[in-house]
Amino acid sequence: MKFIASLGAGAAVWLSLSLNAASAQDLNVLCAVQVEWCQMMEAVFEEKTGLDVSMERRSTGEILDRVRAERAAPKIDVWWGGTGDTHLQAAGEDLLEPYQPKNFEDTLPWAQNFFLMSGGKAAGIYAGALGFGYNSDFLAEHGVAAPSCWKDLTAPRYKGLVQMPNPNSSGTAYTMLATLVQLLGEDEAFEYLAALAKNIDRFTTSGAAPVQAAARGETGIGISFIHDAVTQKLAGAPMVIVAPCEGTGYEIGAVSIVKGTRNPEAARLFVDFALSPEGQETCAASGQNQIPANAKASLPPAAPDISLIRMVDYDFATFGSPDQRRRLLDRFDKEVLQTATPVATQ
Ligand code: F6P
Repeated sequence: MKFIASLGAGAAVWLSLSLNAASAQDLNVLCAVQVEWCQMMEAVFEEKTGLDVSMERRSTGEILDRVRAERAAPKIDVWWGGTGDTHLQAAGEDLLEPYQPKNFEDTLPWAQNFFLMSGGKAAGIYAGALGFGYNSDFLAEHGVAAPSCWKDLTAPRYKGLVQMPNPNSSGTAYTMLATLVQLLGEDEAFEYLAALAKNIDRFTTSGAAPVQAAARGETGIGISFIHDAVTQKLAGAPMVIVAPCEGTGYEIGAVSIVKGTRNPEAARLFVDFALSPEGQETCAASGQNQIPANAKASLPPAAPDISLIRMVDYDFATFGSPDQRRRLLDRFDKEVLQTATPVATQ
């Protein structure tokens, strides 16, 4: 792998220091970014440290459920990636171990603020804005005009032509729910979502699945993070990317160590590497497009410029609280999912 080969001599020094600190332990990582990035990170970290890493991709809400379920006897050491408000919810439930990464001082202010907000239990590793992507060929074939705002997506012409993720499993969808509550007020947000549900043909488990389905021409419009739509466009899909006209929310993707980990030293090494410039650059090297938290890491060339997007002043403290999550998801289940008639949830 070219990226691994380019790590060079510095890596050898890091490797020997690492091995002194944590000799050949296994490390169990649940990963919420795209599987290509998970695989590259696993390979690079193993190459660098000699540690044997088990890396499994799951959506953010699924990871929270798993970490909760294993509270008495944790099997997962590190939760890497996924939307930060779900890491904050885990921190609020006392499921995470405090740790300040070595590269913390090099991280951008939004990442530092996020770390402090988590009580030192979750570190910001990337950022990205929410939006949607549509397949221009698909919409043209169906003879429907293109959307540019959240409110457009409830128009009857899109019946059965939109996919969104399910916020019970997907951090992307929880970000969408919290974004709409902040943009519209809670009651209006649920009215909007109930109207939108009439157009949804599938509530997906993962957050990137809707734009991936749109890219394949299986649906017209996918609601996902904009960086995931960029990845599809770069792969050649006829994808048009929309930052909704009313404004949108964003994520701070995070990494955290699970409380009670059996491999604390290896877990800290992983977190340090995830925040190092080399670790951060595995994002672009695996074809992903989030904005890195470390100011010394280079930006993926196609990463969306979020300074150009109208953004809500996202309230991570409120929407990262376990009580808010429980309440909003209950309301979503009752007022949106149970009244919707999508093909299936997957
Ligand atoms: O595909 C990558 C990504 O969009 C991350 O930026 C984000 O943190 C994660 O997926 C969320 O995934 P999910 O919605 O499946 O929890």
